[in-house]
Amino acid sequence: MMMKTTTARLDRRQPSPRLTSFALSTFFLIVFLCALASINGVRFEGLLNMSYQNTTSPSNASLPENSTSAAALPELRVLIGIPTLPDQYHRRHFLRMVYGTQSPVGAQVDIKFVFCNLTKEDQTVLVALEIMRYDDIIILNCKENMNNGKTYTYFSSLPELLNSTDGPYPPYHYVMKGDDDTYFRLDNLVQSLRPLPREDLYYGYVIPCPSMDPFREYMSGMGYLVSWDIVEWISTSDIPKNRTEGPEDKVFGEWLRDGHRAKNRYNAKWSMYDFPQPPTGCTHELWPDTIAVHRLKNQEKWIQTLKYFNVTDKLKPSKLYHIP
Ligand SMILES: *[C@@H]1O[C@H](CO)[C@@H](O)[C@H](O)[C@H]1NC(C)=O
Ligand SMILES: *[C@@H]1O[C@H](CO)[C@@H](O)[C@H](O)[C@H]1NC(C)=O
Ligand SMILES: *[C@@H]1O[C@H](CO)[C@@H](O)[C@H](O)[C@H]1NC(C)=O
Ligand SMILES: *[C@@H]1O[C@H](CO)[C@@H](O)[C@H](O)[C@H]1NC(C)=O
Ligand SMILES: *[C@@H]1O[C@H](CO)[C@@H](O)[C@H](O)[C@H]1NC(C)=O
Ligand SMILES: *[C@@H]1O[C@H](CO)[C@@H](O)[C@H](O)[C@H]1NC(C)=O
Ligand SMILES: *[C@@H]1O[C@H](CO)[C@@H](O)[C@H](O)[C@H]1NC(C)=O
Ligand SMILES: *[C@@H]1O[C@H](CO)[C@@H](O)[C@H](O)[C@H]1NC(C)=O
Repeated sequence: MMMKTTTARLDRRQPSPRLTSFALSTFFLIVFLCALASINGVRFEGLLNMSYQNTTSPSNASLPENSTSAAALPELRVLIGIPTLPDQYHRRHFLRMVYGTQSPVGAQVDIKFVFCNLTKEDQTVLVALEIMRYDDIIILNCKENMNNGKTYTYFSSLPELLNSTDGPYPPYHYVMKGDDDTYFRLDNLVQSLRPLPREDLYYGYVIPCPSMDPFREYMSGMGYLVSWDIVEWISTSDIPKNRTEGPEDKVFGEWLRDGHRAKNRYNAKWSMYDFPQPPTGCTHELWPDTIAVHRLKNQEKWIQTLKYFNVTDKLKPSKLYHIP
C-alpha cells in the first residue's frame, strides 16, 4: 500500500532542557558504565567522577567517541500514535505540552499525531508549519473516517513508513494507539513495559470494564499497544485487510483472535482507567500507580489530573515569572 508521510525521522520533541539534560546524562552514564566496564574493565571510580563533571554540557559529551549508535540507543523504543483531525491544532498543542514535559529515563517514547489526507487549503500551510516546527505528524493515505479503517491504515502503514536501512530494527519495540482524551504518564508506562515480552504482545485496558481477562475480549481504545511483530503481521496478513469496517478497537481484537496472535497479553487495569467523574464501572480514583487516565473530556478534568500528578513541580524558579 502506498502511503504518504511527512515524517520518517524518529527524533523526539524538545522537553525542558534541564530535565532532558539530567535524564540523558543519567542514562548515558549507565550505558557508558556498562559498555566500558564490560568491554575494557576500566576502573569505576574514575568513570563515576567523569559523569559529574558538568550537567549543562551537551548530553553526549561524556560518551566516548567510539561508542557506536547501537550502544547509545535507548533500550526501549515506543511509538504512541494519537489519531486526531488536521484542524485540531489546539488539542495537539496542548498534548505537546503535556508530553513534551515528560522524559522517561532510558527509553525513547515518540508521540506522533496521525491523520488522513488534508482537505483544506489552510491546512496545507498550517500543518506544514507544524511539521517544520515539531516534526511529529504522520499523514496517512486515507480519507478521514470513523470506524472505517483508519486504525488499520495506521498500523499497516508503519512498517513501510519506518522502514529504513540505517535506523535500528525494529524501529520501535512497541506501537501504541492512544486517545486524544487520555493522559499517559510515560515513565510509568515505560516501567510497566520493561519486564514484558517484546514479541506477540497486546497490552491495554481489557474490555468490558469489570473483566480482568485479557484473553477474552479486546483492549479499550483509551490506548492499546502491540509489539512490532504484530504491527508487521497486520501489514501483511489478509485477516485484518479483509475486515476493516466496524468499531475499530473491537475489530482489532478480532484480528488477533482470528489470526491466533498475541499469546502474550497484559491487562494494565487499574493503572489505566477512566477519570473518576462521573463514576462508572470503568472509573477509578486518581492514584499514584497510574499509567493512563481516560475520558478527560474537558479542561477542568485535565487540570484536576495534571494537578494531582504534580506536573508543574519541576518548574524552574526565575525572576521572570511568579506562579503561586
Ligand atoms: C574527580 O575530578 C576532579 C576534577 O574534575 C579531580 O580534582 C578529582 O581528583 C577527581 N577524583 C577522582 C577520585 O578521580
Ligand atoms: C559547563 O559546560 C558549559 C558548556 O560546555 C560551560 O559553559 C559551563 O561553564 C560549564 N560549567 C561548569 C560548572 O563547569
Ligand atoms: C553528539 O555528538 C555528535 C557527534 O559527535 C554531534 O554531532 C552532536 O551535536 C552531539 N549532540 C549533542 C547534543 O551534543
Ligand atoms: C574504537 O574502538 C576500536 C575497537 O572497537 C579501536 O580499535 C579504536 O582505536 C577506537 N577508536 C577510538 C577513537 O577510541
Ligand atoms: C491522499 O493524497 C495523496 C497525495 O496527495 C493521493 O495520491 C491519494 O490518492 C489521497 N488518498 C485519498 C484516499 O484520498
Ligand atoms: C524495506 O526496505 C527494503 C529495501 O529498501 C525492502 O526490500 C523491504 O521490502 C522494505 N520493507 C517494507 C515492509 O516495506
Ligand atoms: C475475506 O472475506 C471474504 C468475504 O467475507 C471471505 O470469503 C474470505 O474467506 C475472507 N478471507 C480471509 C483471508 O479471511
Ligand atoms: C504531589 O505532591 C504532594 C505534596 O508534595 C504529595 O503529597 C503527593 O503525594 C504528590 N502526588 C503524587 C501523585 O506524587
